[in-house]
Parts: sequence; C-alpha cells; structure tokens
Amino acid sequence: MNPDETLFFGAIEPELFLPSYGALSQKQSLFSSRRCILLPTMRKILVTSALPYANGPIHIGHLVEYIQTDVWVRFQKLVGNTCHYMCADDAHGTPIMLSAQKMGMTPEAMIKTVSQEHQRDFATFGIAFDYYYSTHSPENKTLASEVYLKAKAKGLIAQREIAQYYCEKDGLFLPDRLIRGSCPKCQAPDQYGDACEKCSATYDPTQLITPTCAHCGSIPVLKPSSHYFFQLSKLQDAIQDWLQKGGQNGLPPVRSEVANKLQEWFDTGIKDWDISRDAPYFGFQIPDTNKYFYVWMDAPLGYIATTQHWAQEHGNPALWQDIWQRGNYEIHHVIGKDILYFHTLFWPALLMAGDFQLPKHVHVHGFLTVNGEKMSKSRGTFITAAHFAEHLHPEYLRYYLMAKCNGGMDDIDLSLEDFVTKINAEVVNKVVNIGSRLGSIVTKKREGKLTTPDPTGHELLSLIRDKATDIATHYEAMNYLKVTREIMALADQLNVYIDSAAPWRLVTTEPATADAVCCTGLNGLRYLSVYLAPLMPTLTAGISAFLQIPIPQWTDLNTLLTNQPIAPYQHLAERLDLKTVEKALTHGS
Ligand code: MSP
Ligand code: ZN
Repeated sequence: MNPDETLFFGAIEPELFLPSYGALSQKQSLFSSRRCILLPTMRKILVTSALPYANGPIHIGHLVEYIQTDVWVRFQKLVGNTCHYMCADDAHGTPIMLSAQKMGMTPEAMIKTVSQEHQRDFATFGIAFDYYYSTHSPENKTLASEVYLKAKAKGLIAQREIAQYYCEKDGLFLPDRLIRGSCPKCQAPDQYGDACEKCSATYDPTQLITPTCAHCGSIPVLKPSSHYFFQLSKLQDAIQDWLQKGGQNGLPPVRSEVANKLQEWFDTGIKDWDISRDAPYFGFQIPDTNKYFYVWMDAPLGYIATTQHWAQEHGNPALWQDIWQRGNYEIHHVIGKDILYFHTLFWPALLMAGDFQLPKHVHVHGFLTVNGEKMSKSRGTFITAAHFAEHLHPEYLRYYLMAKCNGGMDDIDLSLEDFVTKINAEVVNKVVNIGSRLGSIVTKKREGKLTTPDPTGHELLSLIRDKATDIATHYEAMNYLKVTREIMALADQLNVYIDSAAPWRLVTTEPATADAVCCTGLNGLRYLSVYLAPLMPTLTAGISAFLQIPIPQWTDLNTLLTNQPIAPYQHLAERLDLKTVEKALTHGS
C-alpha cells in the first residue's frame, strides 16, 4: 500500500459497536460469530473546499472538488466522527467588480444572486455543507484587518512603490488575469499576465510581449503606485518546517508528489507577496490606507470567518476558537492543483501571522477534462451543473467522477461513452439489479418478508463485511477509485451467488431456499449501500426505504436483517442511453 494512503486513518482501536437501531430480536448481532467492524478512534474534523468565485456558474469541473469533499465528509460522519464542512462564495476582486458592472448591478447585488445559484446547484448534487457563507462578511472584514495588523506588528509587512499596468480607458490597474500578451519564454500568443498555458512558465506581467487589456483591448501603460507586501521569505523556514513535519501531528500535510512540486518553488526562491490593490476595487479597505486587500488575502480567511459565523448561529460561538486556535480539530482543505501555491505558501503564512492553527492536510486534486480535452464553450463541453442536472441524475455524475478519483493530482476525464457504460454496467446492472430481481420475488411471489440466509449466504455476507477496513482506508485517502472497485467486486460476488442459486426458479420448487437466497442477497445489498452511502446518498436512501430501515450507518455492518418485512420494490435507477446523453450534454449548454 502507498504510505500516503494510511496517513490520516489514525489509531485503530478495537471498539465494539452496538447495533444503531431496531430491536435485537429482528436482527441477529454478528458480534458473537465474527470479529466486529473496527473503526478509528473518534475524531473531530473541519473540512473546507475552495471558495468558488462569485461571478460565474458552478460547472462540472468545480463539481470534481465539491463532490470529492462531500463524499469524504459524508464518510467521516458515516463512521461516527465529528465533521463540519465549511464553504463560501469568494466575492471580491476586479473580475467580480467588472462582471457586476457589465450586468448593470452593484457587486453586492450580484454576489447575492450568484450565491443563491451556487447553493441551489450544490444542493442538487447532494453537496451538504454545514455552512455556506460569503467572504464579503463582517466577520471576514474584521479578520482581514486583524491578521494584517498582527503581521505588521511582527515586522512581516513592507511598503514599496511598484509600476503596474494601468488601463487608461477603464481607469483601472489591471490584475494579471486581465492582461493578455505573448509569453516571454515560448512566445505563445494570447497568454495571461502571470503564466503561460502553453509552456507553464510563470512571470511578471511586465515581462509579457505586446500586453493588451483583456477587458477593452487597449494597450495599458505602466503606472507607479505604493503597495504593501507580505514578506514571505521571513516565514520560509517555518513554512518548510510545516510542510515537512506537519502542523498538527508530525505528518506532512501534503502528499509526496505535492511536496516535490513545492520544493521547486523553494529552490527558485520565494518572493514577497503583494497583498494590496488600488481603488477602484471590490474588497475590504486596508486599515489606515486608501488601498484594498487583494482578494487572495481575505479569501482563505473566509474559511475561518465562515466557521465563526456558523458557530455563532449554532449557539456555540466559542467553537471556532476550539477549531482554529486551540488545535482541538483536524483541519483539512480540499483544493485544485491550480491554487496550490495559495494554500501551501500564502495561507500558512497568514495563519502563522494571525496565530491560527495550521491545516493537518491539504488535499490536492487534478482537473476535469471532457472527452480528453479541456472543457470548452466552443466544443459545447462547458457543462454547467444546472444543465447537467436538467438532463441526467446528479448522482450519476457523483458516482462516475469519483470512480475515477484516486486522491492524487491526476486529471479526471469525463468521456460520455465511458460514462454511459460505467453507470449501466456498475450502478444499474451490478447494484440496483440485485434489488429489482430479488425484491419482486419477495414481495410478489412470497410473503414480502426477509427470512434468514443459508450457510453459503452467511459466508458471503461475512466476506462483504470483512472488506470494511479496506474500504474505509480508501475513503480516508480519497481513493474513491479503489472504493468503487472494491464495492463492485463484492457486487459481482453477490450476483454470481444469486445467479447460480436462481431464486426465480427455486421459488416454485423450494420456496424456503428461495427465501434464504433473497434474504442473503438483500442483506448483501444493504451492506453495499452502507459502503456506497457517501458516494450515492439518494440511491442508498432509496435502498433503505425499500428495505424499510433508517439511512445507513457504518455500524449497520454489524447487524443482519432477518424476519422482517420489506416494501414493494420501486424503480431505483434508470439505464442511460448514449445518444440521449450526448444530445443532452453537448448541445445548448
Ligand atoms: N476563488 C478561488 C478559491 C479561493 S479558496 C480560498 C478559486 N475559485 S474557482 O471558482 O476558480 O475554483 C474553485 C475550485 O474549483 C478550485 O479548487 C479549482 O481548482 C476547482 N476547479 C475549477 N475548475 C476545475 C476543473 N475544470 N476541474 C477540477 N477542478 C476545478 O479558485
Ligand atoms: Zn481596458
């Protein structure tokens, strides 16, 4: 096993878990005959996803991240850990100010509308934040000032005059992303002011060949202005120390592939970070100046501000200090590889300046491609979350994307053909099919009740339960690819058992044996639904309704459903058809 995968699982203690619900007479406890399911010691965890910009819709690329995080949070809750999931809209910056202008709205009004849309889309995809806030909040304003003043008092802020591109037509200093020009390294045309997408070079906008304003197309001029810099170099040793030994428990907070990437940056030298911007800017004013905080200064502080607001609303205002100041919680961030620099250099620096807890782990994922290419509006593959959900079940995307997510930085591809094949072969044929085949026998041909499994059935069910620790380990490492492989291998074994027993034939000749097979199969389905619950909460809720049991807990793996009624089987999942999917997803999005 890759050592990275065992990092966060914590000490495993042989705790016994009582069945979480129901009368014991209805379910035989398995403690006596088999070793019980082991769970890690109870942990307290705070989890965040990156805060999406408040000037565009949530698209399926974003969803790679929010689903990945949501699955992890649901898994932590499923096994009984205390876990809180915080997120917010990232509401500041020049692009947001310009988007609002273009829409003829105030930035405040626009971010409000966008936030509602974001929250609606996240809910549609089953992403269950404990709180969703905005970086444009009073708590965040206070935090930004406090951290800045602390940093200043610690001698970490320097003031210098610099020359920056200014668009005279727009009356605006241009942020790096609003300047386009040819790359100074490879000469590729039409690149951003900070980095080249062709050769991955990073540079200063002033190095760009033939710069133009991306907003209006005019040629910008260099104009001097006084700026405030966070002197990261003064914290370089402390940051490197954190990256090597960890903030909370002595383990590195990033995987080795990420650490290698960071080492390259340290080797080339860490530059001071400009945290100020000139007016006009939509953001918070820097105390005692006429400048504004750069959006990336207050954005991550939004993680803390959201926790503060949530704790207040939760009736436990001091809880945020437990999390961010006293180290009583593990802090986990989930981010895309494009914002690694911000979360492993700037962010720890801000946390150190503000005397806050450093994260236990920064989980970094890759980018989504569609049919092997970057999502693109012109190819019709820029698919918004809302558009996807209009045509297809959101949970299919959860399953598909996560079945390709190994917890590392590799990109994830959505191939429509593979999507259809995988959903039909795995979700429909392997899992749901168990319910539809056996449910109709039990409720249409027999008395609508589960009886008890046969001896082979007991063995098979033990085998399924015995995978609990492996599956939990893969969940912990966000290696959902391995999670789904394990689950599907178990589903295969269940299907082989069902096919060879053929209860649809036995039901007329040996009805009691047919009952036992159905009981085994449906208990197997129940275990699979415990394993699948973080990935497919709606499907598993459907299975629970069918089996007439509460929604899954990990401890359900310790119990068996016997001698109890189930509900008539109702359709749980639709097969997909490639033509329909192609038509729905690649046209008119
Ligand atoms: N606002 C910043 C984050 C601030 S965190 C303090 C930002 N916003 S974003 O909307 O551009 O991206 C939000 C998250 O979604 C990022 O982690 C980003 O990596 C991820 N993704 C955005 N597009 C993506 C893909 N196409 N594929 C996978 N993840 C993507 O960055
Ligand atoms: Zn311009």
